Parts: sequence; structure tokens; C-alpha cells
Amino acid sequence: QAILSRATEIVQAHQGVEGALLPMLHAVQAEFGHVPQAAMPALADAAGVTRAELHGVVSFYHDFREVPAGQVMVRLCRAEACQAMGGDRVAAQVQARLGLDWHETSADGAVTLEPVFCLGLCACAPAAQVNGRLIGRADAARVMAAVAGGQA
Ligand code: FES
Repeated sequence: QAILSRATEIVQAHQGVEGALLPMLHAVQAEFGHVPQAAMPALADAAGVTRAELHGVVSFYHDFREVPAGQVMVRLCRAEACQAMGGDRVAAQVQARLGLDWHETSADGAVTLEPVFCLGLCACAPAAQVNGRLIGRADAARVMAAVAGGQA
């Protein structure tokens, strides 16, 4: 109910604005950390799209998530310098150990895995970030240790 009334306020604030769907989604996501199901009908109505179309937009833009992010956010750098230093292999190992693909959150809500494009740590590639903590010369073991620390 609280979600619905806050979502309605956001929708109203964007009323009559051309191309308001993305700004509305950003506002909702900023408010709740994800785009809650409960907000979907109001957003679809306001934007003049069907629920299916709205779902398509939300899943197309990886900035938006339909479920809350996990307790631990793992970001692995996918940009060039990190790729050149074995980032792909680290990513594959971390994905396998977490059992997650990009943009996925584990079923228990513990961990979310996201790609990121440069963490500014190119000199210490490959780079990762776990709950905001930067990890240079990352390997799967160090990333998984940080994940375990984040869950503790
Ligand atoms: Fe990975 Fe810059 S390319 S941190």
C-alpha cells in the first residue's frame, strides 16, 4: 500500500511530461531500489503502454531491476584493460561459483552479480567491487572471500 501511494505520487509528478516512462522508472527505482510489481499498473497506465510492454522496457534496461538487489552486490569489470588481464576467466569462475549470470540475484536474495565498465582500477586489472569495496588484481578466490565477508 505504501508502495502504491508513493508510486502514484511519482506518476503524478510526471503527468503530462513527454517521454516520461524512463524518468518515472528511474524515480521509482531510486525510491525503492527496484521497480516493484505493485507499481507496474500505475506506471503502465501513465505511460500508455501495456503491462507486457512495460515489462519489456524494464528488462531491456539493466539499470532497472524487478526484484530488490541482493544483500551483497558483486560488480566485475568487463572493460578492456580488465579483459586483457584475464577478466573473462575471473568472471566465468565467479559466475560458476555463485551460480549466477549477469544481472541475476540468487534465489535467497543474498547476492547480485552485475557487470561494470571500468572501476578506475585499470592499473590493477582485473578489477572487482563487492559491496562498494574495490578489489584490484581480482581472482575468483578473492572475490568469493569478499562475498562471504559481505554475507557475514
Ligand atoms: Fe577494469 Fe578500468 S578497465 S577497472
